[in-house]
Amino acid sequence: SPDPAPAALLLEWYDGHARDLPWRVKPGARPDPYRVWLSEVMLQQTTTAAVTPYFAKFVARWPTVEALAAAPEAEVMAAWAGLGYYSRARNLVACAREVAARGGFPDSEGELRKLPGLGPYTAAAIAAIAFGRRAVVVDANVERVVARLRAIEEPLPGARKAIRAATDAITPESRAGDFAQAMMDLGATICTARDAKCLLCPLASLCRGRATGDPLRLPVKAAK
Ligand code: ADE
Repeated sequence: SPDPAPAALLLEWYDGHARDLPWRVKPGARPDPYRVWLSEVMLQQTTTAAVTPYFAKFVARWPTVEALAAAPEAEVMAAWAGLGYYSRARNLVACAREVAARGGFPDSEGELRKLPGLGPYTAAAIAAIAFGRRAVVVDANVERVVARLRAIEEPLPGARKAIRAATDAITPESRAGDFAQAMMDLGATICTARDAKCLLCPLASLCRGRATGDPLRLPVKAAK
């Protein structure tokens, strides 16, 4: 059942503590879907620190999806060198060409999901961040935050269904993109795998994992 309390606290925190990342825009500004898409594809399996110089290089060289669509695939592959998971670069070119041909990015999660290289996480993230659509955005950071907030004791990977439902129940109708990115920031900077800086956490007063006294054991991993 929906619970508006976590989003209210989290968004208030985000207004003062959002990380300054090059693909983000000033509060209230409309993000460029091309930059949101490019950053989210780069951020799959790669840290923000590693992505930052590549993101800058790509948007300087190919400032629009039309420019990227017109680039020879070999040039894009060469510019991607060092980021790894090279199927992402091949899909990037295919996706840019499809988007340019259809005249822009689709604005719904379902249509985004059909594009090359866009899985459930990426499609939801772009729908929320670029288009303000309410979407349930769950990456590894969000998974950890929600498992702790709701003290979900079931081990991963089985817990993914419950974590998704719990994320859905706290996702607000408005500021969906800020909410998703605030959850990512909380997981990356405060509620980390090795530490849970509960004294700094805007959700501490609501956190059932903290109430158990040992939030670090969550999420539980299935025995190998
Ligand atoms: N990881 C994936 N997407 C992100 C984003 N938009 N901001 C910060 N970290 C992210």
